[in-house]
Amino acid sequence: MTEPLIFGAMVRTLGAYPSGWRHPGAHRDPAGDAAVLRRVALAAEAADLDYLFFGDWLATGPDLEFRDPYLLARIDPVSASLFLAGITERIGLIATVNSTYADPYATARATASLDLLTGGRAGVNLVTGAEPRAAGNHGRDAHADNIGRYGRAEEFVRALRLLWESWGEDAWIADPEAGVLIDAAQLRAASFAGEHLRVDGPLNVARPPQVHPPIVHAGTSERSRALAAAEADLALIATPTLELAVRERADLRRSAVAAGRGADDLKVIVPVLPVVAETVADARVILTRLLELVPIGSGHRERPGYPAARSLAALLDAAGFAPDDSTRAAALDDAVGPATLERLDSAGIAAVSVVARWTGRTASGREPVRWRHLVAAHTVPANVVVGDAATFADHAEAWRDAAATDGFNVLSAFQPAQFEAFTTLAVPELRRRGLLGRSGATLRERLSLPAPRLLHAAPALV
Ligand SMILES: Cc1cc2nc3c(=O)[nH]c(=O)nc-3n(C[C@H](O)[C@H](O)[C@H](O)COP(=O)(O)O)c2cc1C
Repeated sequence: MTEPLIFGAMVRTLGAYPSGWRHPGAHRDPAGDAAVLRRVALAAEAADLDYLFFGDWLATGPDLEFRDPYLLARIDPVSASLFLAGITERIGLIATVNSTYADPYATARATASLDLLTGGRAGVNLVTGAEPRAAGNHGRDAHADNIGRYGRAEEFVRALRLLWESWGEDAWIADPEAGVLIDAAQLRAASFAGEHLRVDGPLNVARPPQVHPPIVHAGTSERSRALAAAEADLALIATPTLELAVRERADLRRSAVAAGRGADDLKVIVPVLPVVAETVADARVILTRLLELVPIGSGHRERPGYPAARSLAALLDAAGFAPDDSTRAAALDDAVGPATLERLDSAGIAAVSVVARWTGRTASGREPVRWRHLVAAHTVPANVVVGDAATFADHAEAWRDAAATDGFNVLSAFQPAQFEAFTTLAVPELRRRGLLGRSGATLRERLSLPAPRLLHAAPALV
């Protein structure tokens, strides 16, 4: 039998769809994050998901309100992981760390601590970051370019591994009779000196149970792929289609082999945003509401960061309508008639097909397609799968059968209801089909990763 897929919860307390926080019943006050994190973590563990995954972003600003509201204010990922470590027992905890700004000693210390405190459930997602304002928040003049960021990231991984290996397997003796606590010969310095980083070691946290907690890497460039192929246990990739995912996964696996690893040593994971309900019709109602709650036009256009493309005029421009076309007098809530739909060119056609896929609404259907739906679908792309438990399980099965992915990072449009809809409706069906349900005492084991490749390069201190 084939192995179940990997399933992690990509936790964004404010919801992963930009209008999710406006949905009735959605969590929207960061003062209540502790309660939501706890609820999501317990639901994820009860559903036997493999890990909770926390992204990160090292700056904020009013522009994020419309594009990615969940980035405006969020709990630091290592803090969130530690908070949940105490109230969970089996699930993995993966915290994002930005290698462009983080200090390797502090990161090794925090992740080794998390691994020790959880008996081997820690993981780290290394990113190099895409937010220019992060530089000013960390005493730098500018965000480093791709070469500089990946140069530092490569050194960062090596420094982390050396620090995690500071203590040999039998370094801790603790013999009260002999009065010997450690075998000093097994305490190793990191002695790492690169172009970007320098760290002496050893680490003042004992050997983590996994020795090397699993490393995830998320990025998009060539250098990112090379780093994932050489170093990552999980590559988190952004792929809009199954065909692209098939190609990218095959490429990454080939590159892992070229880097001297087994193809299966690198798991490829994709994000997905299931909008799940008891019935397909109910899920479409939720999705239609989310589209209708995307702020468009009046009152918002004057606010900082409001995306210029998010208007009917911009959609009509993109869809090839002349400046004096009478359609421009339409209101956002007007239904778009079949004759008008036929006049849309490629950008418009793409929006119409997204709306049809997400909401079931078509030109000839009972429920109208409104301009508002098209503007929202055109300007807020998302990897959405809308439907009931079988719809999502079919999606997961199709991606597995096509060798497009080793698993999914599951996003939720709003919290906690949509995550709980996923765990209570989709998860039992995934389990029934053998698509979900891995096991293992540590995160490494759950993910079917090989034993870490120890560097052992560092000299002993004595
Ligand atoms: C699926 C996915 C998730 C990501 N999550 C984060 C994140 O949480 N924080 C972050 O700073 N960057 C994140 N990134 C961005 C990457 O760090 C990266 O900087 C960006 O995609 C630019 O690509 P490059 O670093 O390969 O040049 C993510 C990227 C992908 C593809």
